[in-house]
Amino acid sequence: MNRKIALVGSGNIGGTMAHLILQRRIADVVMIDVQEGVPQGKSLDLSQGLALEHKSGHCHGSQDYTDLKGSDVVIVTAGIARKPGMTRDDLLSINANVIKNVAKGIKENCPDAFVIVVTNPLDVMVWLMQKELGFDANKVVGMAGVLDSGRFIHFLASELGVSCEDISSFVLGGHGDAMVPMVRYTSIAGIPLQEWIDRGWLTQEKLDQMIDRTRKGGVEIVNLLKTGSAYYAPASAAINMAESYLLDSKRILPCAVQLNGEYGMNNIYVGVPVIIGKNGVEKIIELELNESEKQQFEHSVDSVRALISDLENLGC
Ligand code: LAC
Repeated sequence: MNRKIALVGSGNIGGTMAHLILQRRIADVVMIDVQEGVPQGKSLDLSQGLALEHKSGHCHGSQDYTDLKGSDVVIVTAGIARKPGMTRDDLLSINANVIKNVAKGIKENCPDAFVIVVTNPLDVMVWLMQKELGFDANKVVGMAGVLDSGRFIHFLASELGVSCEDISSFVLGGHGDAMVPMVRYTSIAGIPLQEWIDRGWLTQEKLDQMIDRTRKGGVEIVNLLKTGSAYYAPASAAINMAESYLLDSKRILPCAVQLNGEYGMNNIYVGVPVIIGKNGVEKIIELELNESEKQQFEHSVDSVRALISDLENLGC
């Protein structure tokens, strides 16, 4: 296969992404990780699995950034998750240093790649990645909105007793508690969600509970797993974005992108719906928000800005 996706970070999300890429036959894979043996071991395991699935494909693990050469897409999960006793600033500065190192590796080895950041705190890390890379902003995006929307769609489908395939929705804003699930733009088989409420098929109270659960979707899974965070859905979300770029599918996906005047915001990365095709972010879809949506969106953007200024104060 000619296409190549590099996964920087070979933890649970990295491993799951490699599995999805190979099973869907989207591209060859290189997994890079500072931990010796882990990307090599996972690659070997995945390759042996391919033999059993009677599929061709290539995957290898490495500690060497020169193996990024020839990558069309780089997906970055490298960094740590917040552990008990660790402050938000500790996490910010540790992961900021990881992002800086990774940016250097990408810049030196695959300056034309489409870069998808998954490392948390997401919106700040992708903002930093773009600054470090100096690439055009349409080639550097963050994965969060697709995941958050997937969570909201799952809750809605379960509550309404319908297939998630028929639900279309998206979440605006930063990847944190202040994200904004967009009720007004959610539809089920083309029927606006509001109509389901108006007809009494769903109560406002239930909907509010689902919105709250979506906002705290990551934490709910961390609390259940106890030893880590979500990885199946985050991996699917990032691969959907990579696939739309590689196949030029022009899907409309909510991604963290740089806003330059859109939604009245500047010099910030935050989640909004965009078209992803062979040129990366081909269009930012700017919607007319109503007063309440605007207020919620601004509140979410404020929390991302607060993290960016924390990062700057830390000298990162
Ligand atoms: C989550 C992490 C992946 O929301 O950001 O589960």
